Amino acid sequence: MKIKKAIIPAAGYGTRSLPITKVLPKEMFPINGKPAIHYVVEEAVASGIEEILIVVSRNKNMIIDYFDRSLELETFLAETNKHHLLEKLSVPEAHIQFVRQPYAKGLGDALELGKPFINEEPFAVLLPDDLFIEKEQSLKQLIKVYEKFNSNVIGVQKVKKELLKNYGVIKEKNISTRLHEVVGIVEKPQTAPPSNLAVVGRYVLHPDIFSFLMKTKPGVGGEIQLTDALKEMLKERNCYGYEVSGERYDIGSHKDYYKLLKKMNNDKDYLDEL
Ligand code: UTP
Repeated sequence: MKIKKAIIPAAGYGTRSLPITKVLPKEMFPINGKPAIHYVVEEAVASGIEEILIVVSRNKNMIIDYFDRSLELETFLAETNKHHLLEKLSVPEAHIQFVRQPYAKGLGDALELGKPFINEEPFAVLLPDDLFIEKEQSLKQLIKVYEKFNSNVIGVQKVKKELLKNYGVIKEKNISTRLHEVVGIVEKPQTAPPSNLAVVGRYVLHPDIFSFLMKTKPGVGGEIQLTDALKEMLKERNCYGYEVSGERYDIGSHKDYYKLLKKMNNDKDYLDEL
């Protein structure tokens, strides 16, 4: 079945990026004049996604406004003969809907809100704070694996041992270069991580995940963790971990955000455009 729908959970507090995230969602952090979430929506669309649900919170209306048309501004640009600027207002072509998560109870809770939108289809999840620079979109890489095995696929990457405690980490059986069978998964292991393969923010999931999410109790940090629901689902459904290629930048980390800006500011096409 073709993967046509995606959920982008963007309702977290962004506490690592305070104080700016008190007023500016990290998903709206600018990268070459566009907000981070624009690139993630672009990645989804370029991977074949047609319908997107973005989970927001009460103070993230800016994300909704960004993907809406601004008729007043469009009229102003047209009337003042600034037609060339109109194309700057275009956003990726997908049907985008929004739902509010009343309280940031965790990624698992945010995803659960997408159940009526997804219905009974396999779907993608893209965390908007993880950005990848690679020719082939990371989600597209996962969708190819999904199409081959018809099973859940989680994007993973090798991470330094001392940093694994910040991630979901898979226990795996290696199948081939980049491809692993997931046999266990732990959220933020403080000791003895089961591998050096950390979950990065891209997934293709079977809709059964919702029934596991509904039964999931708060885990690490008192949050409803997607990792815990995935762990339960492993008892009934196969899951693969695919080592996505490409450089990953977690824009919730100051260091990664600045590294990404530096990388993008050396982008010749962009500099020529200025
Ligand atoms: P993170 O844990 O990376 O983001 O969640 P956060 O909670 O916003 O940031 P920090 O850790 O406090 O700095 C991964 C993604 O899941 C979303 C976040 O918006 C982020 O994009 N999320 C997280 C939700 O939508 N709802 C939640 O309750 C938690």
